[in-house]
Formats: sequence, structure tokens, C-alpha cells
Amino acid sequence: MADYVPVTKAVVPAAGLGTRFLPATKATPKEMLPIVDKPAIQYVVEEAVSAGLSDVLMVTGRSKRSIEDHFDRAYELEETLDAKGDKERLAQVRESADLAMLHYVRQGEPRGLGHAILCAKHHVGDEPFACLLGDDLIDPRDPLLQRMIEVRGTYGGSVVALMEVPPSQVSMYGCAAIEPTGEDDVVRVTDLVEKPPADEAPSNWAVIGRYVIDPAVFEVLENTPPGRGGEIQITDALKELAGRDAEAGGPVHGVLFRGRRYDTGNKLDYLRTVVQFAAERPDLAGEFIPWLKEFLATRT
Ligand code: G1P
Repeated sequence: MADYVPVTKAVVPAAGLGTRFLPATKATPKEMLPIVDKPAIQYVVEEAVSAGLSDVLMVTGRSKRSIEDHFDRAYELEETLDAKGDKERLAQVRESADLAMLHYVRQGEPRGLGHAILCAKHHVGDEPFACLLGDDLIDPRDPLLQRMIEVRGTYGGSVVALMEVPPSQVSMYGCAAIEPTGEDDVVRVTDLVEKPPADEAPSNWAVIGRYVIDPAVFEVLENTPPGRGGEIQITDALKELAGRDAEAGGPVHGVLFRGRRYDTGNKLDYLRTVVQFAAERPDLAGEFIPWLKEFLATRT
């Protein structure tokens, strides 16, 4: 087996305008919207950390300062809770500040996901890195990112996460043409198309928001013209790498994910996610589930 450079850094693009959640996101980043009582972005950072990546770079933009505050100490609040002897809440407040080594870079202009990732070039340097999109939450019981890092360790190059979706939904995702490898959950990616119409999709395996990316992507992104939606797309850059051999930054593999993924990127999925998380919480489920059942019974 080749000796590949280990993955130690995570990049979390968080510069989107959050237009789907206006007016809530007028002054609050969409990444800070709570899933029960924790901002969505904290689950993502926790996932990176549990995959062994404690160096996390956030690519932010204007009006995103509360993200930095959330992962920082909050002395006044901590002092007040300490003085009250409220150890439980004090621990909750400190948890996000102690989680990871957070770094920030600003995207400046909204030129697409590929451009956001290119903003990480200086921090990442010549190492493979993970990229986690905040709209997708992966259940911690289904360790997808760990598996992707393992696959990168075996095959080199880049690794995307693929999930089978109904044909009617392929136009919402990057979509992959795939070939089998000897492993059940790993495929070779031979082509990628960003948000194709259903009848032009190479398969219904959709790229979900987890990537392990070879640093060769930076040079490719610098030369990637705007694609779908007039934006610089990571899908287009990965398509280029999928056609290259190992010496030039390829290939691209896919991990077929059959676990639990929660979408927080639009209102309806966000609501579903909040309800599912609440129903799993030992401190809430006992009261919440019976209430929900009763509420639904009176609605039908
Ligand atoms: C982005 C990517 C797309 C991918 C999706 C996963 O799209 O461009 O290829 O399938 O994330 O969530 P977005 O949802 O940001 O429009």
C-alpha cells in the first residue's frame, strides 16, 4: 500500500447568504440556527473532531461573527454561571470553545463552493483535507468521514460521499458516474455532473456534503471557469481530478453511504431534522414524543 500523507485538517465553508431562511438569517448566519439547542455548525465541528481532525478552518463571510463568538470563550457568561454554581450549563458553554483549533478565513465575494474551498489553500498547504458542508448533518453513529479518510489512505486522491436518491432529486446534487472496486462500499468515480436534469444524470448516486480532497484541487480550482449557476463548482474541479492518475492528483473514489443523514438546508428538511433530534434526546423525548403523537392525532 502506498504511504499517503495523513488527513489532519478540515475545511468548513460557511459563507453562504442563507437566503432560504430569511428573515431569520438577515443578521444571524444560517449555520447558527439551532437544532434543538445547539447550532448546526457545532454538530459539524464535532463530527470533524471525532474523525480525528481538530484543526478546523471556517470559510466565512460578512455577518458571520457570531460563529467565531460561539467557538470562543464567553467570560461574562462563564463567570455568572460559575458564581451561581451552575456546573452543567457552564460545561455546555465551555464545550464549544474547547472543541477544536478553529481558524477563519473570509471568502470576500460569493463565487461558489469551489471558490470558498480555494480560500482554504494557504491554510491547508500541500496536504489532503476534509471538507464538511454545514447543510448536511451525519449521525455520529454512522462514522462516514472516518471511512472516507480510510479510503483515501488506501487509494490516495480524493474521496466523495455518495448517497442514492430518487431520480426526481438528482437535479439538487452533484451526481456521479461510478464503477465498482473490490470493496462493497467503495466505487471509482469516472465522471461528475453538478445538478444535472434527471434525464442527463449519469446515475442517481448524489454527492452529499462530505469530501476528502487532494491538494491538487487548488491548482485545478484556480483554472476552473464558473459552471452551474455561474459559480465555481467543486464538482467541476473533482471531475477534472477523476480523470487524472495518482501522480497528477487523481483519482476520485466514492464511499456509498447508507446511513443517517439529516438535511438542514431548507425549511422543511430543517423542521424534520429538529423533530428527529428532539425525539432522540433523552432529556426531551419522554415528554416530546407523546405530545407530538397527540398533536398529530388532533390534526388528522
Ligand atoms: C453542494 C454541491 C453539490 C452537492 C451538495 C450536497 O450544493 O455543489 O454538488 O451535491 O452541496 O449537499 P448546494 O447544496 O450547496 O447547492
